[in-house]
Amino acid sequence: MKIIAVINHKGGTGKTTSTLNIGAGLARAKKRTLLIDIDPQSNLTEGLGFRDVKVSIYDSIKNDTPLPIENISEYLDIVPSSLDLLGAEIELVSRLGRETIVKRLLKAVDGKYDYVLIDCAPALGMLTVNALVAADTVLIPLEAEYFAYRGIDRLVSIISDVRTHYNENLTIGGVFITKINPRRVITEQITDSIKKYFSDKLFDTSIRVNVALIEAQLKGVDVFEYAPLSNGAVDYENLTEEILVKL
Ligand SMILES: Nc1ncnc2c1ncn2[C@@H]1O[C@H](COP(=O)(O)OP(=O)(O)OP(=O)(O)O)[C@@H](O)[C@H]1O
Ligand SMILES: [Mg+2]
Repeated sequence: MKIIAVINHKGGTGKTTSTLNIGAGLARAKKRTLLIDIDPQSNLTEGLGFRDVKVSIYDSIKNDTPLPIENISEYLDIVPSSLDLLGAEIELVSRLGRETIVKRLLKAVDGKYDYVLIDCAPALGMLTVNALVAADTVLIPLEAEYFAYRGIDRLVSIISDVRTHYNENLTIGGVFITKINPRRVITEQITDSIKKYFSDKLFDTSIRVNVALIEAQLKGVDVFEYAPLSNGAVDYENLTEEILVKL
């Protein structure tokens, strides 16, 4: 079971869209996949059509009860989030072993899945630390803009702290560029500068700007189901292929 945290503390870089569609891509490749929404915004949960969730990851974190797992399709499950997860950051302050809660919760499903993808909030608080402590590797989506990697030093330094104190095998599995507009003249320069910064960590596949990705989430389905021939479906299929080979 490979546990992947999808992380970037910058907002709107495509974490949720990527978790959802890479997850769907892995499930299409018949990999048993569990998605975990650990963001109080609950965009992943809602993007897969779950609303008014009664039991969420918040309950498991608070009460140490088994993760509430909802089925999406044959190979795809999700642990939903809910807005009350917002309170968790503060409630965790006084809890002993607070960094390892999600890791412990995931122990109970060990072996049931090939991949677990954790969609993190745009924050570097205790919930994100929990994801990093539980994870084997990290995927970082970067928006195609100048200095997209600005601030990434902070993320890299937290990853290194987690490695030192909790999870010595944690790796940065890769970085990929999202929301690329191939018609923009500066796109190539942006890609080049990101490539220089991350060298071999940057995936070959970038995700183009594609409205089908937005529409699919509004409909509560993945892009392969909503628009199988769209650029979004093609790009996420290629990215999934790379992940299957490289992670
Ligand atoms: N390739 C794309 N083309 C067009 N729109 C996109 C693409 N990827 C993501 N979006 C849209 O951009 C917005 C932000 O994407 P997303 O929610 O995946 O980012 P995020 O990193 O999870 O954000 P947050 O930091 O708030 O959790 C969403 O409205 C999403 O539908
Ligand atoms: Mg998100």
